[in-house]
Amino acid sequence: MENIDILIKNANELITLKGPNRPRIMEELKNLSIIKNGSIAIKDSKIIDIGKNLKYKAEKIIDASGKTVLPGFIDPHTHVVFAGSREFELDMKLKGLSYMDILNSGGGIFYTVNKTRKASEKDLLSQSICRLDKMLTYGTTTCEAKSGYGLNIESEMKILKVQEKLNKEHKIDIVSTFLGAHAIPKEYKVDEYVDIIINDMLPKIRGLANFCDVFCEKGVFTVEQSRHILEAGKDYNLTPKLHADEIVDTGGALLSSQIGAISADHLLMSSDKGLRQMAKKRIIGVLLPGTPFSLMQNIYAPARKMIDFGVPVALATDLNPNCWTENMQFIIQLACLNMKMTPAEAITGATFNAACALGLNDSIGSLEMGKQADIIILDCPNYKFLPYHIGVNLVDTVIKKGTIV
Ligand code: NIG
Ligand code: FE
Repeated sequence: MENIDILIKNANELITLKGPNRPRIMEELKNLSIIKNGSIAIKDSKIIDIGKNLKYKAEKIIDASGKTVLPGFIDPHTHVVFAGSREFELDMKLKGLSYMDILNSGGGIFYTVNKTRKASEKDLLSQSICRLDKMLTYGTTTCEAKSGYGLNIESEMKILKVQEKLNKEHKIDIVSTFLGAHAIPKEYKVDEYVDIIINDMLPKIRGLANFCDVFCEKGVFTVEQSRHILEAGKDYNLTPKLHADEIVDTGGALLSSQIGAISADHLLMSSDKGLRQMAKKRIIGVLLPGTPFSLMQNIYAPARKMIDFGVPVALATDLNPNCWTENMQFIIQLACLNMKMTPAEAITGATFNAACALGLNDSIGSLEMGKQADIIILDCPNYKFLPYHIGVNLVDTVIKKGTIV
């Protein structure tokens, strides 16, 4: 009998998400490939076997009777590195100010930029570690992190370097996105700033990011400016991502399909034409229901329509000072209760399709032989509890790269 590190056995439901290794769509989103009374064998940070009643000599045996086992959550859209907080904005929102009102009066992103520019690398690091620790507790084992609260070369570099350090030092794997185009700093006219992003920032951030993102929105960056920045990013091997059609439909979804983006995110206002093109090109729609929830909007991304069109949908927290949650379980709850996704669709969106949105589906996102052992055990008998037993942390155990954390 082979010696292994960990054997998880008797899982009431072992949610494997075994299936095609590409963004999943339509009915595929509902297929979680569940093994009843399942076991997983883990050795050297990998899943070496998966099935029923596995027999191994293991250093550690976890009895998961009555529990649900699934891949660690993957959070494919966060702004986890920032300084300060914006709890005072709730009073402004309650008075009827919109997200854009607050931003245009110099608050919102600009408030956080101010704080983040002043913060030392050490401060940013320690504030971000607290957030990542929480994420891990709530079952997130990999996340994306965007720059974007620097808006000048020094501060954008500072954030990206903090992200690099976090990836090395923290248990959570962190994938970096350059979001220099998050807002237009007061010092510049928009065209000047686009020029700085393309000619100063992109050459200097080489090696510090995998993706390039733009806040493509009315009053921020136009579709043409976004296209320009994302095309330039491609020359530096940065795959495009987009904050698209969050407040107004400016054609962000359509742009994502023309530019070869891996994902377009938010998508509350996207046109049917844009969504259909995303479906055709299999561009992942990353839905962020925490954001409209925090803004007290009663409008969410049209998840049902997107799924009907064949858009591969994923879910993320959007963790940022306007929508501060580290908790993907909460996002799954919002996805089901406010966007009418089924529990199974939401789980696929928070695991496998989220891995696809980061280009990591070869190694994570499902529990299959040879994949990295990023696994969570929930203290509930089946996956339907996730959007049902709400407002608590259902995570009992988190295993990252084969180690219990
Ligand atoms: O995805 N909308 C633009 N960017 C972030 C929010 C950033 C902020 O408000 O600090 C988002 O929601
Ligand atoms: Fe965002």
